[in-house]
Amino acid sequence: MRLFDPIALRGLALPNRIVVSPMCQYSAVDGCATDWHLIHWGQMLLSGAAMLTIEATAVTADGRITPSCLGLWDDATEAALGATLARARRQAPPMPVAIQLAHAGRKGSSARPWDGGMQIPIDRGGWTTHAPSALAHADGETPPAALDAAGLMRIRDAFVAAARRAERVGIDAIELHCAHGYLLHEFLSPLSNRRTDEYGGSFENRIRFPLEVFDAVRAAWPDARPLGVRLSATDWVDGGWNVDEAVEFARRLKARGGDWIDVSSGGVSPAQKIVAQPGIHVPFAREIRRATGVVTMAVGLITGARQADAIVAAGDADLIALARAFLRDPRWPWRAAAELGATVRGAPQYWRALPKEMAGIFGAARTGQR
Ligand SMILES: Cc1cc2nc3c(=O)[nH]c(=O)nc-3n(C[C@H](O)[C@H](O)[C@H](O)COP(=O)(O)O)c2cc1C
Repeated sequence: MRLFDPIALRGLALPNRIVVSPMCQYSAVDGCATDWHLIHWGQMLLSGAAMLTIEATAVTADGRITPSCLGLWDDATEAALGATLARARRQAPPMPVAIQLAHAGRKGSSARPWDGGMQIPIDRGGWTTHAPSALAHADGETPPAALDAAGLMRIRDAFVAAARRAERVGIDAIELHCAHGYLLHEFLSPLSNRRTDEYGGSFENRIRFPLEVFDAVRAAWPDARPLGVRLSATDWVDGGWNVDEAVEFARRLKARGGDWIDVSSGGVSPAQKIVAQPGIHVPFAREIRRATGVVTMAVGLITGARQADAIVAAGDADLIALARAFLRDPRWPWRAAAELGATVRGAPQYWRALPKEMAGIFGAARTGQR
């Protein structure tokens, strides 16, 4: 298999393996998409990627990372997301759109990164966060409230309600955010989960709530539409969540109808020791794919077309997600197609853009010249 080979995720056909990784834009107002999303999604929809993944989208207002995070928890947030996405999609060639549904857990109530990213106190517009255990993420932060049984049901039902809203606005795929130290990852990791009930302690207990959320969303989401999961393969901390547990969790997800595992890492502890290097998560994706046979998505410091193609060709991952590369170069798939001799979908308004060395990437006849 190669980067530009098609792939199907359940009933969803992707023309190639390049995915726009979810990226928070911190540009929503009361959870509602704005004109920023219109131009950002518009650019990504014109990129030639196989699928756009909308940023971590909160299923409850208190599940936002920052007050400017996108949400899908009520009629107003649904209407804004639906209308904005529809406007962007009307102007671009067809592209499947996934949404990453998320709850920030104890990492909520934070300032936007460009405002410093610190926890916002309640008397300055912050809110009480919720998590498996009443343990702060970082020293000096106000600890979250530990979720009780009613709180767990409220959040599980919020994921389901958001999935139904996603269906109504024409979203093609859902990715559950179980990574980066947000709520579902906080259940998985023994560093953040110190519960003594059936949701904490053993591996079986720590995966219980994420699996309950997964099952509830799978049951509510149309059969033909795929559901994937982003997970952190390791906490990068001794005694934390590790790759063996990630492999076993992936196996359980696959058995319950999980359509892909998007392999990332870290985020649950400030003590993490990450050595950043090109293709940082590819070895984890390879291990998960080989051990379980699940479709994997590799992400993290993948920047070159040949690098991405080699990952797919080696059978290390089925899909390649890129984040920052798409921000600095929204035409990354055009260049990759030129380098690898493939084609991408392009808007006819842009067909005349191509220099000789990129000729043919929109298909032989698509020059737009007479
Ligand atoms: C601006 C920005 C926002 C991000 N927001 C999210 C997010 O909403 N959900 C998520 O899982 N990862 C998020 N990430 C992580 C990316 O999806 C990706 O995993 C990471 O940047 C590594 O890939 P890259 O080297 O291609 O950038 C974000 C990254 C950036 C740069």
